[in-house]
Amino acid sequence: MHERIDEATFVQSMAQTLMRELASGAAVSSIPPITDAARDAHHASQNSVTTPFPEAATGWAETDAAIHRLLSQLTFAYPISAPTHLHAPAAPLAGYRRDFPILQRHVHGKPLIWFDNAATSQKPQAVIDAISNFYTHHNANIHRGNHHLSQQASAMFDAVRDRVATFIQAPSAANIVFVRGTTEGINFIANTFGECQIHAGDEVLVSQLEHHSNILPWQKLCQQKNAILRVIPIDQQGDILLEDYQALLSKKTKLVAISHVSNVIGTLLPVQEMIALAHHQGAYVVLDGAQSIPHLPINVTALDCDFFVFSGHKMYGPTGVGVVYGKQHLLESLPPWQVGGGMIQHVTFTESRYAQSPQRFEAGTASIADVIGLGAAIDYLQSIGMATIQHAEQQLMAYAVAQLEQVPKLRLIAAPRHRIGALPFIIEGVTLEDLARHLDQAGIALRIGHHCAQPALAFFNQQRVARASFGLYNTPAEIDQLTRVLLRCNYSDGYSGK
Ligand code: ALA
Repeated sequence: MHERIDEATFVQSMAQTLMRELASGAAVSSIPPITDAARDAHHASQNSVTTPFPEAATGWAETDAAIHRLLSQLTFAYPISAPTHLHAPAAPLAGYRRDFPILQRHVHGKPLIWFDNAATSQKPQAVIDAISNFYTHHNANIHRGNHHLSQQASAMFDAVRDRVATFIQAPSAANIVFVRGTTEGINFIANTFGECQIHAGDEVLVSQLEHHSNILPWQKLCQQKNAILRVIPIDQQGDILLEDYQALLSKKTKLVAISHVSNVIGTLLPVQEMIALAHHQGAYVVLDGAQSIPHLPINVTALDCDFFVFSGHKMYGPTGVGVVYGKQHLLESLPPWQVGGGMIQHVTFTESRYAQSPQRFEAGTASIADVIGLGAAIDYLQSIGMATIQHAEQQLMAYAVAQLEQVPKLRLIAAPRHRIGALPFIIEGVTLEDLARHLDQAGIALRIGHHCAQPALAFFNQQRVARASFGLYNTPAEIDQLTRVLLRCNYSDGYSGK
């Protein structure tokens, strides 16, 4: 049949061209011009055929499948090479990959590439072992028992509070409250500090870049209090409009709640400056560090934020544990939030006295093993050095941007001055479902959706996007593989007319 001969010729010519290109050391990014040319040639031959192709759709699906087989053979037969004239940066942290057992696994027969770090990071063996060791040798409830194991467990738990304080350069362990994660941490602040400090007519500022966890608690509070929620605008690059922010600040502003790094755009906000400006107007600042804590050295004392919140699971620690840092005089002024065991001094049926901060805010049994795991994650990160991680990830992000920009029809969302962790994109003409399928089949895990930041995406006229998000173990070779799969996916979806 005509179309079968055409398909075979097409695939064969692609194979020959690719083999030639690869053998000469040329880059895989030369695929699109080749395939476009081949596609044009095919279309020309199609036009010259007088009888229509009744099985065209099936035929082309087979062609796609053949091309996919071919490309994946080539991908795995040849060392990964960088697309045109781009030199991959060194991968100074690649050696740490062996600490993450999950990175050894395959998905759909392909080595796992974990680009979903903004949703959650993978865990090093040291963290897994710390949790397992706690349950194997030390499990007991804390601050409630005189027996040996309880005292051991309490000491282990309390030591992590010290390590967290050191890690974020807080004055002392008294500044550190354990919560379940960033979302609970922000709700805790809204329900205590917000409840006491925000009154009718007051203004709370959030940025256009916020994820839902740093919008909804403030929106709800403002609704309850008859206060006003205002939005700090951004420009088309995804950067804060500082002058507009300054103009929004007034004596009515009681609180500014902002992300340190945007979870969807990756913008590093100019927080030092924003905090100083807020304080100048007498406003307090809650800094959401969920997306900065795995990527940057954090110094809450130098930042001078009033609260800093983060989750363990995005910084190579376990889920179920997070931290609220608060300035001591603020924490001491706050009423309890949840009440129950572990946060009291004395209880009667008529009246109760509560413990001092931070225990006052930790009702019930904490996720003890996860706190221990968080301590192990901190030790792990400190053994590498946050400045080292920041530097390596900066190089990787620059490389990722340059690589993805070479994919035809791929559009990066926004272009902030400093992009950290997250790289959102779409490919014109390729549905996100198809994108998700291609990437998953290639063993590449990244998130596609609204990223719990619908207002931020709406600003860029998007409802859902793909987001590659990076961690310390990601390598330029993995970026190359992503680029290659996007080229293939771009080609095949455009090709089948989707
Ligand atoms: N905030 C998390 C993310 O960005 C869940 O994926």
